Amino acid sequence: MEKIFGKPLITQEEILHRVRELGLQITQDYMGKNLILIGILKGAFAFTADLSRSIGIPAGIDFLMTTTRESPGGESTKIISDPTLNLTGTDVLLVEDIVDSGVTARMLLEKLAAHRPKSVRFCALLDKTGGRTVDIRPDYAGFSIPNKFVIGYGLDYKNKYRTLPFIAVLDDRTKA
Ligand code: IMP
Ligand code: MG
Repeated sequence: MEKIFGKPLITQEEILHRVRELGLQITQDYMGKNLILIGILKGAFAFTADLSRSIGIPAGIDFLMTTTRESPGGESTKIISDPTLNLTGTDVLLVEDIVDSGVTARMLLEKLAAHRPKSVRFCALLDKTGGRTVDIRPDYAGFSIPNKFVIGYGLDYKNKYRTLPFIAVLDDRTKA
């Protein structure tokens, strides 16, 4: 494994413990419902896999893929796929790695609402509450984190570090 400078912000043990707690909560809240998890690729691949296995009721699983592009006006995120399951009348839970400004989550929730599910809620592993420009709050959040760029457990910097089992703050030396 490559050397990551600085210590983990959230260790693998802390992540897995919190993911189990979220899974328990979701299990209680969705008992008897027709739950479908929608994981957002690529960032939420690890979280979706672990969370889904911490949920003790039958749940469907699907994915939406997003890409982020640097542009002169800043970053812009696009949704580049559609759900494959029929979401009409189901209880959809959007599973995201991180919510920062909230722009991406709002766009994803609007897209999912267009499929006429019975309910749509939103679960994010990490919540950068200080970055919000849109009035949106996850229904389930793993950890509140400071307004710093983080990597690991699905989150990347220039397509690297997604496979780290912990979350760390991106260090200038890690960037190099
Ligand atoms: P938002 O639209 O500003 O809420 O940003 C959400 C998206 O930006 C996430 O889905 C991530 O892809 C990306 N992002 C935001 N903060 C970070 C970070 O600290 N590390 C890696 N990706 C991030
Ligand atoms: Mg993402």
